[in-house]
Amino acid sequence: MNYSYISQLYCPKCSNTFSHQQKNQLCSCGSPLLVEYDLEELGKVLSKQALTGRVPSLWRYHELLPVCDEKNVVTLGEGMTPLLSMPVMGADMNIPNLLMKDEGIIPTGTFKARGAAVGVSKAKELGITELAMPTNGNAGAAWSLYAARGGIQSTIVMPIDAPKITRNESAISGSNLYLVDGLISDAGKIVSQTVQEFGLFDASTLKEPYRIEGKKTMGLEIAEQLEWKLPDVILYPTGGGVGIIGIFKALTELKKLGWVEGNLPRLVAVQAEGCAPIVRAWEEGKSESEFWYDSETAAFGINVPKAIGDFLVLDAIYQTNGCAVAIEDDVLLEEQKKLASLEGAFVCPEGAATFAAARRLREQGWIKDNEVVVALNTGMGIKYPDTISVDVPVLEKGEAILK
Ligand SMILES: Cc1ncc(COP(=O)(O)O)c(C=O)c1O
Ligand SMILES: [Zn+2]
Repeated sequence: MNYSYISQLYCPKCSNTFSHQQKNQLCSCGSPLLVEYDLEELGKVLSKQALTGRVPSLWRYHELLPVCDEKNVVTLGEGMTPLLSMPVMGADMNIPNLLMKDEGIIPTGTFKARGAAVGVSKAKELGITELAMPTNGNAGAAWSLYAARGGIQSTIVMPIDAPKITRNESAISGSNLYLVDGLISDAGKIVSQTVQEFGLFDASTLKEPYRIEGKKTMGLEIAEQLEWKLPDVILYPTGGGVGIIGIFKALTELKKLGWVEGNLPRLVAVQAEGCAPIVRAWEEGKSESEFWYDSETAAFGINVPKAIGDFLVLDAIYQTNGCAVAIEDDVLLEEQKKLASLEGAFVCPEGAATFAAARRLREQGWIKDNEVVVALNTGMGIKYPDTISVDVPVLEKGEAILK
């Protein structure tokens, strides 16, 4: 039995194919590449029941991941995050079957660990010794730390306004870290120049094909944790869109394997009102988005004005009869407070946006009675201490508290 059943890479736009044994970036037509597996062979040798008892990390799905030799796996124990029921929040928004997939409980505190673990592992397998990437913060933090673990040098460029903690995580890992007074798109331009000049591997979102595979494991886990009965709706905070593309890919592969039945969950791309290119494209029935000028939101990870894989995100929404929703910053920050006070869950602003979207879609009747709804919390709230402002009384020593 093989460790991985990867067969090749393919271009979803022009159908060109590529070897996974070589370093690949975008297709010559400019599209991201996707990974294909020999699902027929895999289906003959592996059953979903055989997963029981495996290591509680995303590597339990190694046959459906691109790393061919186990010795190249770079891991900090990522994956198999909790799928929690949210009864009080659920009652509050009239969604009795509300669940949270909590990606705060993972190394580096965000789901970016998944893409980094698989991306860095495959980079190691391909003999890459130095990589570079632009980031809104969390991905850079995760890739810096996993690169350090894998013995790979990283160069990271992030906006000066990115959450400070992510800057520190990158710096302490020994990454070559740079800040830019601009957006992730500005960081991306600098990285493009740098990789050309110095011949580094470009690990930008979707310019390397393997981080989708890491993020795909969120979909595999949701299916397994629900005993292979798919939920009705999955809401995902969408920036570059890798997570939602990955979840769609995972569920499609499970369907082909015959491990799940019925309709795929309706996938909801949740964006911030101050940066909603996918929502606008979806509302207009388009298959690609337009650059969103002067974007701004407290949910920093989803401040992506134009995603290179936008057509794949929109395809995932259309194919699952999903939708796209934009949430105002004050509304998502209010939801973040509610989650902490009603459920004890201190989620990141991006994660809070998915709950706000669920509430709105329920009010509008788009989410129906008794549907099983999974909201993705993509990171822990404590990575964003500055989104919370509190007024706390200060006592003199010995002073009594007056109620
Ligand atoms: C916490 C958080 N949530 C969501 C996202 C968006 O991720 P994706 O590229 O999968 O859309 C990011 C990206 O930086 C993030 O940091
Ligand atoms: Zn192509």
